[in-house]
Amino acid sequence: MSERILVAVAWPYANGSIHMGQVAGAYLPADIFARYHRMNGDEVLMVSGSDSHGTPVTLEAERRNVSPEDVFKEYHEQFLDNWDHLGISFDLFTSTHTDNHISVTQDIFSSLYKNGHISKGMMMQPFCESDNRFLADRYVQGSCPHCSFDTARGDQCDNCGRTLDPQDLMGMICLLCGNTPVIRETEHFFLNLSSFNDELLEWIGDKTYWRPNVRNFSIGYLESGLRDRAITRDIEWGVPVPLDGYESKRIYVWFEAVIGYLSASVEWAKSIGDESRWRDYWRGDSRSYYFMGKDNIPFHSIIWPAMLMGSGDLNLPYDVPANEYLNLEGRQFSTSRNWAVWLPEYLDKYDPDPLRYVLTVNMPETSDSDFSWREYVRANNEELVSTYGNLVHRVLTFTYKNFDARVPKPGNLDEISEGLISEARSRLEQVAESIALCRFREALNTVMGLAQECNRYLDKKEPWKTIKENRSEAATTLWVSMTVINGLKTMFYPFLPFSSEKLHLMLGFRGSPMDNGWNWDPEILMSGQKLGTPEPLFHKLDEDLVQHEAKKMDRS
Ligand code: MF3
Ligand code: ZN
Repeated sequence: MSERILVAVAWPYANGSIHMGQVAGAYLPADIFARYHRMNGDEVLMVSGSDSHGTPVTLEAERRNVSPEDVFKEYHEQFLDNWDHLGISFDLFTSTHTDNHISVTQDIFSSLYKNGHISKGMMMQPFCESDNRFLADRYVQGSCPHCSFDTARGDQCDNCGRTLDPQDLMGMICLLCGNTPVIRETEHFFLNLSSFNDELLEWIGDKTYWRPNVRNFSIGYLESGLRDRAITRDIEWGVPVPLDGYESKRIYVWFEAVIGYLSASVEWAKSIGDESRWRDYWRGDSRSYYFMGKDNIPFHSIIWPAMLMGSGDLNLPYDVPANEYLNLEGRQFSTSRNWAVWLPEYLDKYDPDPLRYVLTVNMPETSDSDFSWREYVRANNEELVSTYGNLVHRVLTFTYKNFDARVPKPGNLDEISEGLISEARSRLEQVAESIALCRFREALNTVMGLAQECNRYLDKKEPWKTIKENRSEAATTLWVSMTVINGLKTMFYPFLPFSSEKLHLMLGFRGSPMDNGWNWDPEILMSGQKLGTPEPLFHKLDEDLVQHEAKKMDRS
């Protein structure tokens, strides 16, 4: 039965390039999930966009002395280009700086206000007397009252993940001038989160299928009691408050960014000329999966669900498969210290599939994991080139040469051949199951395991020897290997779309690996089918690359 699935992917701040931690944390798992489900015949809507407002973008604009709009536009273009080259297959990647998003945000704000879930109140906000302005969110830094981390920001601590209000910070400084701000009173709107506490606890209580880290973090959060949170700011860049008299304030970036999932769905429906189609993904039995790194958890497992509970009858998240962190060469990624591998730089030099591969086998699904260039080269050379690529290459080139560039005709299959075929069948199901449960590492290992089995089969059967005395036996072996390779093409497709496309053509098919859907019938590969010219799927990387890349990071 076909399902309907919303794949909601965290919106990157349009204030800097994407790094590999974000790819492994959110974009890649979401893409694998979406590609699998589309192939399986499910209806998928995968959306995200540039998170264009708020202090992350204005701070960068001030640093560079350009407008926030310039900063947002530059990175928005870059993101679109990156998704294209990495094969992240959004149905829509928009931004929060659209008329549509602004109006959907204002509608949600107004309905929460009307329903009594937003109220006005006075609050104390840091104000810098030398800069003569209020300091929202990222403009202040101090130590976290929960974990004592000393560079927590005004709205969240990067260490313990808790959301904060600026006045919570200890030893607060203004990030513009380094002075200690004074505290001034200002009027703001508050989301009455505390009134959702019990309802949220009950809702998460049922979510026994969530990843334990996500569920436990969220429950702990709720058990310590939610506080109402200010959802407007004294800044100029962002979505205006839809009420008279608040022209100098803007809606808090996090409040509006999460609404992006909804507004992007609305924009997508308009773009396909079926305006109400977004409802299919927000009501009824459609399931929504939210992909992100762990620092985003409370916004998706608590704040966004509360907003949805308070504003109407839209579906709450079905799952929030947040990832832990990906470290780089044993140290935490740090954009400020330039300890990062930037996606645009990677894509300028290297192929997308090897990155997709190494980040999936090392995906931080249940605990922090590590990216290193050494591991990148190793995984590429030992697994992609030697195991999978080499299997494909030896079967296809040998057949191409000895069987007139056509799929050979098999004789009767012996027990080992039948065994390999049934192994492939059962792996196809296991992979599907793992992906549907968001266990991507496990899924990819299962596919690679089949490539290993097929290599062993080939080594045992030695068609390059048997061809001399028993041509039909060799033909059978090659056909069996080739049809299993055709299955590998399907199973690898969500992970390695570019090489699967290539392999599809080399096996003599037209169109795309998507065309046959998520299934594998050995007979799909018909004897006599003309093969495409065999070419290596992957390229061996030189060990020097490790030193070269490491040196580059050291210098920065
Ligand atoms: N921009 C945020 C970040 O990079 C993520 C926002 S996800 C959202 O951490 F969709 F909720 F906006
Ligand atoms: Zn903390």
